[in-house]
Amino acid sequence: MSTPLQRMLGAALAGTLGAGSLLAAEEPRQPWSPGIETSGYEWNQMRGEKLIALSQQGDPLRGEIAYEVCKGCHEADARGEIDGSYPRLAGQHATVLIKQLTDVRAGVRDNQKMYPYANEHVITPQEIADIAIYLQGLQAPAENGLGSGERLQRGDDLYGDHCKECHGRHGEGDADGFYPRVGRQHYAYLLREARMIRDGERRNAHPEMVDVIDSYSEDDLAAVADYMSRLPGARTEASAKSP
Ligand code: HEC
Ligand code: HEC
Repeated sequence: MSTPLQRMLGAALAGTLGAGSLLAAEEPRQPWSPGIETSGYEWNQMRGEKLIALSQQGDPLRGEIAYEVCKGCHEADARGEIDGSYPRLAGQHATVLIKQLTDVRAGVRDNQKMYPYANEHVITPQEIADIAIYLQGLQAPAENGLGSGERLQRGDDLYGDHCKECHGRHGEGDADGFYPRVGRQHYAYLLREARMIRDGERRNAHPEMVDVIDSYSEDDLAAVADYMSRLPGARTEASAKSP
């Protein structure tokens, strides 16, 4: 038995493994690859180490050990920072973690700060799979950074119209779609990313998301990010946290 995602990966992997060496030695400076600013941009291309990491069976015990190098920024329980400087990784979908990490390594998502700690000389594709499954299973601590709570109705309206379809009614995202869980993520991080997405600076973003967020004002971005940060992040919890 296999899911459509696994079948898709299997087919694509068959093409990739023949392609020879995937991990060329290089300095720990982040490479650059064309992203959303480029015509002909193809979102979430299935190739290289992304495909390999997605196809590996992750081991959470090995992942906990490999995660050691990430703790300095993302914290021991992967709670991130309330001020949004470092995102929460606990409870995020493994597929999303793998996509984001391999996009940084390929240079489609800019993160020079993290690159020296997360490049192929430090973390193997197998360890990416291990870390991802470990983090997915971590229970996010209850407390996360929230916005002012002043424009939640506006946030609710915008979210329902433009974001819910992918990020889910409870902010739970979708593992097979590579849509991040945004519920209980830190507000300041969500706001920064939403702004970067609108301005074309999050270069690995989904083009349909960029289209819907294109005309948002700063107030709209703040309202929707605040609303998202209060969603429970899982289908099982009934409603958003109230201010
Ligand atoms: C030097 C600090 C630092 C270290 C060490 C670090 N990161 Fe990060 N990481 C960041 C920052 C900063 C961001 C947010 C970048 C942004 O704002 O776009 C980030 C973002 C991420 C994201 C994207 C999250 C999302 O919701 O899209 C993932 C996944 C991630 N890091 C995984 C890791 C893993 C795994 C390790 C260890 C191998 C690691 N990081 C080590 C600083 C770090
Ligand atoms: C077509 C599906 C889709 C829609 C619609 C969508 N998103 Fe996203 N969103 C994504 C994907 C996929 C990512 C991860 C970035 C990537 O790799 O493309 C993402 C990432 C994000 C992030 C960063 C989360 C993180 O962990 O780094 C924020 C914030 C965000 N979206 C906000 C929004 C808002 C606000 C809306 C509505 C205005 C919206 N999105 C609509 C698919 C979507």
